[in-house]
Amino acid sequence: MTRIDPHSYFDDAQPRTQKWSLWLRTDFDRKVLQGEATLVFPGTGVEGTLDLDTKGLDIHRVYITATAATLPFELGEEEPILGRRLRLHLPAGTMGITIAYETSPEALGLQWLEPQQTAGGKQPFLFSQCQAIHARTLVPCQDCAVARVSYDAKITVPEGLTAVMSAGPNGDEPAAPGWRTFSFKMPQPIPSYLLALAVGELEGRDVSPRVRVWAEPATIEKAAWEFAETEAFVGKAEGLFGPYDWDRYDMLVLPPSFPYGGMENPRMTFLTPTLLAGDRSLVDVVAHELAHSWTGNLVTNATAEHFWLNEGFTVWAERRILRVLHGKDAETMGWALGQKALDDSLARFVDQPELTKLRTHLEGIDPDDAFSSIPYEKGARLVVAMERAVGETAFAEFLKTYMKRFRFQSITTEQFCAFVEEQFPGLLERVNAKAWLNEPGIPADAPRFVSPTLEAITALAQGWKTGQRPSDDQIQAWGMSELLIYLQQLPRELNTEDCAWLDGRLKLTERGNYEILVEWLCLAAGSGYAPVFARVQQVLSTVGRMKYVRPLYQALGKTSAGRELAREVFAKTAPSYHGLTRRVAEGVIGKYVE
Ligand code: BES
Ligand code: ZN
Repeated sequence: MTRIDPHSYFDDAQPRTQKWSLWLRTDFDRKVLQGEATLVFPGTGVEGTLDLDTKGLDIHRVYITATAATLPFELGEEEPILGRRLRLHLPAGTMGITIAYETSPEALGLQWLEPQQTAGGKQPFLFSQCQAIHARTLVPCQDCAVARVSYDAKITVPEGLTAVMSAGPNGDEPAAPGWRTFSFKMPQPIPSYLLALAVGELEGRDVSPRVRVWAEPATIEKAAWEFAETEAFVGKAEGLFGPYDWDRYDMLVLPPSFPYGGMENPRMTFLTPTLLAGDRSLVDVVAHELAHSWTGNLVTNATAEHFWLNEGFTVWAERRILRVLHGKDAETMGWALGQKALDDSLARFVDQPELTKLRTHLEGIDPDDAFSSIPYEKGARLVVAMERAVGETAFAEFLKTYMKRFRFQSITTEQFCAFVEEQFPGLLERVNAKAWLNEPGIPADAPRFVSPTLEAITALAQGWKTGQRPSDDQIQAWGMSELLIYLQQLPRELNTEDCAWLDGRLKLTERGNYEILVEWLCLAAGSGYAPVFARVQQVLSTVGRMKYVRPLYQALGKTSAGRELAREVFAKTAPSYHGLTRRVAEGVIGKYVE
């Protein structure tokens, strides 16, 4: 037995699935997907034991695809993180097996929305979010990134709704009366966590020949405008990494309960509508998800223990794209905002310093609980350290070679290190990679990012207590990042007068830019400034993005009026939160002092 992933029953010594054929129907009344998954094996057939991951799945029957002969199956005990092992014994010459099943209404990889949770308000909505280990709540599979699969799918949905997936569309046709079947084909082999599906009232708008934005009709105009410059990102990213290998780059703007800012589902990035600031100021998330088309989707972390390989390189690439398109100052602002996120994550894990290593050991730990800015920001800083040590030109070459060597493979930190050693003997030693990878915290000689603008803003914020205030001219000159950094550097507790001054001058409570808005609401609510409570309540009742939900509930926890509000909002909203968001909110509220 060779299990290589603490979060999967995938066994390296067993037959490996090559392809999935999914045939699923949405049942919005019961909130389940129901149908069949066929797992296809390579060559002329395989045999022996096959262990699959499942979670919450109701398995109806398993059969040999070619003969329809029923195959007995064993479902293991429910394990809280992994779910249940589905064990099959494949007879010699098995080329494919089919599993008839349905998902659970509680599947963490899916969220079923009522019409009132959408922008249109008339139709229900369904979306998936499989990373890190939730694909098994949708499909019985080898849910480990090393077991890459291509897939095709037929998804039957109520007439009037549209299905999109992390795959190429392959037509749609009427099914039973009142139903329509959408077909998809994903020819490139992907890790299971990149399986994605969304169903709703959707409209697509082309912004360039290979880029289309999808959203609800009520949102499509705004979304298409916000992301109109994406083609330029694709061009710049190709300059960094080599050709774009996934044919199209489309994006889907989801309803506000989507728990992340963005998810790099291949051919169809999923995005939170909180990016629709109306001024294209939050498109760094698109640059990030796009960059995953190389670092993540082409070269993939083998398991969640090597997550930094995905996110560290992608943050580096995101900031490099930002530099090329918007200048070095914009890039430095990105690093400064990242530093704050990094410091916050280091503080959050003071009692679990092992989670601040880049190469983690997650046996018994849920990847969703280990999630933080560490792999992103510490990881990106290690990439910069390597780049600075060899120079930008040599590093640019290295990246292209890295992509070529490992394209469509899922690799470990150790494989990555062996490759670096081969390309640049002695480099790992020179940047002290051991400390970055295997020790907690941030090495003392970590790269720093400074700019005069950044220093001026920090000094101004630090002068708050001695009465310094930004002038109208200064405020006018600030972009969104400058204002955000200013707010982040202010003292964490302000009095009523201070809060009123800031809100009066900067009109913060009425902002539509969620980065600014949430930073302000955390500062004000954490200071017990009651005039923002209504807005906090409004945000927490609609927005599920965990990056915002966690700090808002934390800020409310600082005062007793805040705690009361938090409990009230949570009691009312919990049923409509995404399962992951609910867990995060519950965790924060559970730590309140009284
Ligand atoms: N792949 C991540 C999202 C993710 C990570 C989902 C782990 C589930 C488990 C995505 O690329 C991401 O990092 N999104 C960020 C945006 C970003 C600009 C840092 C987010 O959602 O905020
Ligand atoms: Zn990412």
